[in-house]
Amino acid sequence: SEKIKQFELERIETLPTGYEREPKKGVLTKYLMLSLLVAAFGSAFQFGFSIAIFNTPSDVIQSFYREVYSDRNGESMPNSTLNTYWSITNGLVPFGGMVGGMFSGFTGDLLGRKNGLLSVNAIVLISTILNVISKYIQSYETIMVSRFLTGIYCGLFSGLLPLYLSECPPKNLRGSVGTLNQLSIVTGILVVNILGLPELLGKADRWPILVGLSLVPALVHILLVIFPESPKFLYMKKNDVSGAEKSLVKFRNHDRVLIDEELEELKEEKAKTADNPHAAWSDFWTIERLRKPLFVALMIQVSQQFSGINAVIFYSTGIFKNAGLEGEWPIYGTIILGAVQIAMTFVCMAIVDRAGRRILLLTGMIGMCISSFMLALTRIFSDKVEWLNYMTVVSAVFYIIFFSIGPGAIPWLITGELFGSDSRGKATSIAVFVNWLSNFIVTVTFPFIETAIGSYSFIVFGVLLIFFSLFMLFFVPETKHKPIEEINDMFKRKTIFFPSSK
Ligand code: GLC
Repeated sequence: SEKIKQFELERIETLPTGYEREPKKGVLTKYLMLSLLVAAFGSAFQFGFSIAIFNTPSDVIQSFYREVYSDRNGESMPNSTLNTYWSITNGLVPFGGMVGGMFSGFTGDLLGRKNGLLSVNAIVLISTILNVISKYIQSYETIMVSRFLTGIYCGLFSGLLPLYLSECPPKNLRGSVGTLNQLSIVTGILVVNILGLPELLGKADRWPILVGLSLVPALVHILLVIFPESPKFLYMKKNDVSGAEKSLVKFRNHDRVLIDEELEELKEEKAKTADNPHAAWSDFWTIERLRKPLFVALMIQVSQQFSGINAVIFYSTGIFKNAGLEGEWPIYGTIILGAVQIAMTFVCMAIVDRAGRRILLLTGMIGMCISSFMLALTRIFSDKVEWLNYMTVVSAVFYIIFFSIGPGAIPWLITGELFGSDSRGKATSIAVFVNWLSNFIVTVTFPFIETAIGSYSFIVFGVLLIFFSLFMLFFVPETKHKPIEEINDMFKRKTIFFPSSK
C-alpha cells in the first residue's frame, strides 16, 4: 500500500496545471463499516423496533387495556373508549417524533453527532422501564407516556443518524451509506413483528419481555461505542482540525490522498461560509440559497408520508383480513411485506450511488401511484371477483417494492446533501419535524378515512402521488456525488425546473 500511495502522489504531481482531476474514490473501510453499523443498530434499528412494537400483539395490548379498565371501574370498557385510548396510544408516537425531530439538529450541533446519539439512550431507558412496569402496576397511562417518550427518542434518532451518515463516508458512497438508516429501520420493524407473534412474545404474560428488548440495541450502542465523531462536525462546528483529521485517519484507513483531499474541501467550505458560519432560523426564509433547497427537502418529506406508507405498514394486517385472507395469513402477509421491504432497500442501497437520487425517487413515486390505484380497485371489486383478493396482496407488495426503491430511504439522506455544514443541523430539524408531522396526520386520520370511505381510501393516496411524482420530475435536482457548492449552484438557476445535470 506504501507503493500505491507513492504512485498516487507522483501521479498527482505530474498532472498538468489547470487539469481538472477526478477526485479519488473512497472505499468502505472496515472501520467505517463497523462504526456505521453500531451507530445504526443503536438508533435506526431501535427506531423501527420501537415504533412497531405493538403491531403484531395489538390485540393482546388492547385486552390489557380492557382488563385494567374493568378492574378499575367494575364494568367492561366500551368499544368507543377503547378505540379512543388506542388511537391516542398510537398517535402519541409520531407526536413525540415531532418533538424529538425538532430538537434533533440542535442536539447534534450542541453535543455532536456521536454524543447526541449516545445520550438519547437515556430516554430509551426511561421509556422502556415505564413500558415494562405498566403490566405490573396495571396502568395504561404509563404505556401512553412511554409511547410519547418513544416518539421523542425516535424523532431524535431520525435526525441524528442521517446527519452522521451524511458526514462520515467519502462522497462517492454517501448514497448507499445514507440508505443504511432506512435499512435499519425496516429490519427493526420486521424483527419486532416476528418477535411479537403469538407463538413467541406476543402473549398476555410475555409482552413485557418484548417491550423490554428495546434495551438490547441501547446496550450494544453504549458498550460498543467505537465510532468516532463526524469529521465534518469537528472541523466546521468545533474548529477542531486535528480532531477531524484523526477521525478521517480512522475512517479512511490512513489513505493520505483521500484525507488531504477531504480536509482541503472542508477548508474551502469553511472559507465560503466564513461570514455566516452558523445559519440562523430566519435565514431559511430570507436567503435564497437556503430557501429553495428547504422547500424541496420538505416536499420530499411530505410526499414520503402522504404516500400512505404507514397506513400500509401499520394497517396491512387489517387490509389483508378485509381482503379475505384467513387464519394467521394476514399476519404472515405483513411479515412478507417486511421481508420484501428489506430486500428492496438493499437494492436501493446497491444502486443509489449509480442511478442517482432523482430517478429512484421519481420511479418509486410513479410505481406507488399505480400500485395505490390497483390496491383501491382490487379492494373495491373483490366482493364480486374472488381472485381479486389475492391481487390486493400483490398490489400491496408492489406498493412496498416501489416505496423501498427510493422514497423510503432517500428523503432521510437528501437533506444532508442539500445543505452545507452552516445549515445542515437546522435544516435536518425542520425536515424531520415535517416528516413526523405528516406521519402524525396520516396515522391519526387514516382509521377515520378507512371507516368513512373504506376501499376507496387508497384513491386519495393515488391522487396525491400523481402530484408528488410531478414534483419529483420538475423540482428535485440530482445530488449524487456532488459537493455542496455545486448543489448550491444548481439552485441558483433562474428556472423552476431542476433537471439532473449528469
Ligand atoms: C420510513 C418512514 C417511516 C416508515 C418507514 C417504514 O422510514 O419515514 O415513517 O414507518 O419508512 O418502512
